[in-house]
Amino acid sequence: MKNMINNPFVVYGYEGPEFFCDRREETDRFINLVTNGNNIVVMSPRRLGKTGLIHHAFHMMRERDPEIACFYIDIFATKSLEQMVQLLAGAIVGKLDSKKQSIQRKLSTMFRSLRPTMNFDALDGTPTVSFDIVPEQSQATLSQIFKYIELSEKRCYLAIDEFQQTLSYPGPSADALIRSFTQFIPNLTLIFSGSQQHLLSEMFLSPKHPFFGSASFLSLKEIDEKEYLHFANGFFSKQKRSLSAEDFHELYSLVDGQTWFVQKILNRLYSLTGNIDNGSIITVVNQIIDEAEAGYQQICNLLTVNQLQLLIAIAAAGKVKSPTSGEFIKKYDLPSPSSIKLAIDTLVDRELVYRTTDNIYIVYDRFFNIWLKRNYYALHQR
Ligand SMILES: Nc1ncnc2c1ncn2[C@@H]1O[C@H](COP(=O)(O)OP(=O)(O)OP(=O)(O)O)[C@@H](O)[C@H]1O
Ligand SMILES: [Mg+2]
Repeated sequence: MKNMINNPFVVYGYEGPEFFCDRREETDRFINLVTNGNNIVVMSPRRLGKTGLIHHAFHMMRERDPEIACFYIDIFATKSLEQMVQLLAGAIVGKLDSKKQSIQRKLSTMFRSLRPTMNFDALDGTPTVSFDIVPEQSQATLSQIFKYIELSEKRCYLAIDEFQQTLSYPGPSADALIRSFTQFIPNLTLIFSGSQQHLLSEMFLSPKHPFFGSASFLSLKEIDEKEYLHFANGFFSKQKRSLSAEDFHELYSLVDGQTWFVQKILNRLYSLTGNIDNGSIITVVNQIIDEAEAGYQQICNLLTVNQLQLLIAIAAAGKVKSPTSGEFIKKYDLPSPSSIKLAIDTLVDRELVYRTTDNIYIVYDRFFNIWLKRNYYALHQR
């Protein structure tokens, strides 16, 4: 399947090291930490490349040592421990079966309570196995999965993406269970990741939480502009085209170097013919925004007047340090600080606005930000 993709600027998932830009230092640090038995937490704002980095590091680790086992689950959509255990079972059970008979015997009795179901992917027909987890036995099954890892005697790495999701599960604290089941397994290292940085930091930095002090942090920043240009021109040169440093600077600055947005523009530029210049970049960005416009309208329609006024004010300002300050409220003709406080909480909660670790507020989606700015006056009249 290698190299079968039509467009080298991947906008979803991970397609291999040749399509992955830079992150050499972060990858080295990731690999160094986990292969030396340190659990890690990979953090960054959304769409900067956490998930990509995990897949990339796993790829490089497997290339170095094919004997290791790397597991990845994304628990963003899970609502309970039971659903998380189901994902874990699907990713891990059966993947570590040992040739050693003594281990095999132990393992074969282990998952009797799980009923495997074979499914086929609707798109490509790939078989997948899922397990029926009996809700009352979620904890026991979780413990068995980790026991299975331990018994396999294989070097294992488990990445749990969007880990903060466990905080919303009803019932016993999932992170406490995971911590207690895994802490004495010598052949397992854990990688946690997520974009809700304040929740994740709290989970690993507050003594109230079970994982307190038990992992090293790896925070991702934007990919270096020069490295990105070099990466992009590696593919454009095969089309006998190139992107100048000035034009790339415009592109990169327009979306603040946020990986997915840069990739999205490069992907579209790659699909077009003709020279790449400032004009074609603007055309492409407009196309992307036009295609998303119906969605943006829909989002705006669902907001209250205060929320919408605040959202467009943040978009117009770009970055806002204190949205409840008199100066900001006056400049953008906003309602009282108490209403703004309510509105900002909702916008952050709905992930329309992002609060950086330095407490600066920005509109999450860089294309939405451009659209809001463009429609400032029309939206303001509502
Ligand atoms: N180093 C990279 N080089 C090229 N593309 C990348 C790189 N890192 C990430 N991407 C691409 O950028 C997009 C966003 O990356 P990714 O999903 O890893 O971000 P994320 O931080 O996990 O986002 P989220 O917080 O939404 O889960 C993906 O389409 C991915 O393919
Ligand atoms: Mg991700």
